[in-house]
Amino acid sequence: MKLSEIPTPALLIDVPAMQRNIERMAEFFAEGQCRLRPHFKAHKTPEIARRQLAAGSCSGLTCATVDEAEVIAAEGLTDDVLIANQVVGPGKAIRVAKLAASADFDIKVAVDSEAGLADLAQAAQDAGVEIGVVVDVNVGLPRCGIAHGEPALALARKVEATEGVTLRGLMGYEGHVVAIEDRAEREARTAKAMSRLLETAQLLREDGLPCDIVSAGGTGTYDITGRMEGITEIQAGSYVLMDSAYAKLDIPFEQAFSVLGTVLSRPRPELCAADNGHKACSQDHGNPDVKGVDGASVLFLSDEHATIALPPESAIAVGDRIELWPSHIDPTINLHDVLYAIEGVEVAGVWPISARGYAEQRKSGRDS
Ligand SMILES: Cc1ncc(COP(=O)(O)O)c(C=O)c1O
Repeated sequence: MKLSEIPTPALLIDVPAMQRNIERMAEFFAEGQCRLRPHFKAHKTPEIARRQLAAGSCSGLTCATVDEAEVIAAEGLTDDVLIANQVVGPGKAIRVAKLAASADFDIKVAVDSEAGLADLAQAAQDAGVEIGVVVDVNVGLPRCGIAHGEPALALARKVEATEGVTLRGLMGYEGHVVAIEDRAEREARTAKAMSRLLETAQLLREDGLPCDIVSAGGTGTYDITGRMEGITEIQAGSYVLMDSAYAKLDIPFEQAFSVLGTVLSRPRPELCAADNGHKACSQDHGNPDVKGVDGASVLFLSDEHATIALPPESAIAVGDRIELWPSHIDPTINLHDVLYAIEGVEVAGVWPISARGYAEQRKSGRDS
């Protein structure tokens, strides 16, 4: 298949650019104590994870959901997985226990509450397995994570005293600072966030608790957090494909991902409408950019249309192709079933986005 034959809307991967991103990141983590644990949620695609792991410097994979962990296990991508999120809700802890039952699968789960811990421990005890736990510490992002210091220490003690779970360490995601454009400010705010995590790790050690894992970091902070003494791994995901939001930062990764559309209409010289609307391209971090058309910009996305402002002299015509650079890769990828891997003008592969959507929903749809 040629690039020109791909039905639209469709997701394109610039394979050489992606490969350069993978190699740059692996090279960075080849030095020093800290390892990379690439976040699978960014792309949900086994073929990409295989390439990230093959490049080296990785401790395993990070993921956000039990669904993703199940895909990682089923595909045999790695035997070392961190679910960097709380596992709470019907049936989820039981599914983690099933994964832990596989002798060579080392699974760790983030926990920030006694309720979450109890659920996980019960599932582990029922299945006769041990589930690894990292205490999730809030380092400033108003999302999950127990307060740093004494509250986190108390939860770690509780983990250590609970049957069925094994305390492995801490995590703390500084998501509130990863996208700060000004480097000096990003560094200062990252240092503040990470001091909460590192001080808590010190408290655990002083208490005689194990703390082998101290996991943190994203694409915008990989070379800040990733060079801090005491941080053992970085959970960056977006670096591999990049998006227009991260492209504003001073980081050495290329945009390797776009949403291909076909021009449906050129009703006026100063605009066109293409078929890559917001059912094909997320907008939660702002409108996408237009790739490779001087002076073009997205005016707005609707369900099935991208309305694009054009310089009136532009030669773009009905039937032409137009690529958008999304502002956020994760939710864009989750809208599609496959990625088209492009090398030059050839489609080198069509890669299933195996962990997209919600597997258990699909299963209950089939079962009902
Ligand atoms: C827990 C966690 N770790 C790490 C990341 C890193 O992602 P990114 O590479 O997009 O900065 C994310 C992204 O949202 C996350 O939620």
